[in-house]
Formats: sequence, structure tokens, C-alpha cells
Amino acid sequence: MKGVILAGGLGTRLFPLTKITNKHLLPVYDQPMIYYPIRTLVNAGIDDIMIVTGGRKSGDFLSLLGNGKDFGLGHLNYTYQEGEGGIAEALGLCAHWAKGEPVVVMLGDNLIERNIIEPVQAFRRQLAEEGQGAKILLKEVHDPQRFGVARLEGDHVAEIIEKPKDPPSNLAVIGIYMYDHRVWDIIGTLEPSERGELEITDVNNWYIRDGSLTYGVLEGWWTDAGTFESLYAATRRVAEGGANHVDDESAG
Ligand code: G1P
Repeated sequence: MKGVILAGGLGTRLFPLTKITNKHLLPVYDQPMIYYPIRTLVNAGIDDIMIVTGGRKSGDFLSLLGNGKDFGLGHLNYTYQEGEGGIAEALGLCAHWAKGEPVVVMLGDNLIERNIIEPVQAFRRQLAEEGQGAKILLKEVHDPQRFGVARLEGDHVAEIIEKPKDPPSNLAVIGIYMYDHRVWDIIGTLEPSERGELEITDVNNWYIRDGSLTYGVLEGWWTDAGTFESLYAATRRVAEGGANHVDDESAG
């Protein structure tokens, strides 16, 4: 299983903090933001990782992360996204590298309290048993309008709506996505949304229509860190109790 961390974009919601650097290099308490998603993937046993950078100071990722020694890795892969083409476009830049393998994708500004060991194992089982499919993780939030939101029907996700004015639930789709080998072709069929981006929500809705999308509900807190409020919340949570726990007591 490959891992991809998406760390492009201009981070305009954090302007002027991002005027001269990339959002994912900003500190969240005592570490650069990008450290947290890398740790999340490594903790789940994913050690073949591509970092998609972009925007300003993308060369600094190499200086900061090198070959991933701080995470026990022997190698890291890097690629560059021009402009603001969206999450799905950024993922598509990894197609040549992933060579038709399944992938766990994590947004570079997402932080979690615990780990994704169990959901990744469940996705591996799903692939072994069904041969294909995708898996997303949901989390109850108080401000669903900010996210992709799941509409559930019985025990499955019937639809995901990106930033709904009138949310069908308070279950946000968090920025951790697991896809089978078909994702690389699906991205090639997407059309830009109204905001001119290839949307990850369109990829997820493809798998819903295919009947092969499963979901889990994440244990422990989750936050993005792409706005002043959420960056502050992330910093406070990490300062108070840390992130990426894998010990028995707090394992999710
Ligand atoms: C993106 C996705 C959204 C998801 C969110 C999680 O939103 O489009 O579906 O819920 O990440 O962080 P963005 O942060 O790009 O607005």
C-alpha cells in the first residue's frame, strides 16, 4: 500500500502567515504541520510515501524532511503541483509512481489524536475479500458546512456533498482516503468543479455509485489546520495531549 500526503496549495485562508511559506511548514505546537500526517501514515505501517508539494517554498520540504530519517524511513518521494487544481489533481500527479497500486491519501493539514491502524487493516481486508473499493473516515463536527459531508442511508454512505449550505448530517469526511488501483483512472475522468478544481468528493461519489465505498468513524479528535481557528485548535490540542497516539490506552 502506497501513501500520499498532499501539501500543495497557496494556503490563502492563513494569509499573511503563508505569504512567504507553505502552510504545511508552519508550526503546530512543537513540530511543523507536515510531521503529523507523515507520522499518521508511518504508524499505520505505510512507509512508501509521496509528498505532493506546491506553492511557495516547496524546496524547503526537502531541507526539512530529507529522506524521512526522523520517521524511521529510508526514503521519501516528492512531486510538485502547479497552481491550485484541487486535491484530486494533486493525487493524480502520483499516478506514474503508484503504478496501479492502492493508496492511502492524507491531507497535509489534517491531524488526529490516535491512529488509523484499524481502518487501514479493515481496508486491506476489504481489498483482499472484494478485490476493489474505497474507504473514507467520518467524524462528527459542529460546523459541517466547512467540509465534505456524508448523507447516510441505513449502513452506507448514499452521497457526499462538498461544503453544503444545508448539511444532511454533522458527519464530516476527514482528509484521509483509501482507494483501490482504479483511482488513477477515475481521476482522469473528472471535470473541474465550479471553483475550477478536481474535487476529491467527486472521486468518493464515483465509488459510492460503484457500490464499493465503505466508511469508518474515526476515534479520538480530528482537526484540520487550514484556518486561523483550526490552526489554533490543533496547536492547543497537541500542546495539551499530543497527537498520533498508538499506545493501547488511546489506540483507536
Ligand atoms: C477538503 C475536502 C473536504 C474535506 C476537508 C477535510 O476541504 O474538500 O471534503 O472534508 O478537506 O479537511 P478543504 O480543506 O480543501 O476546504
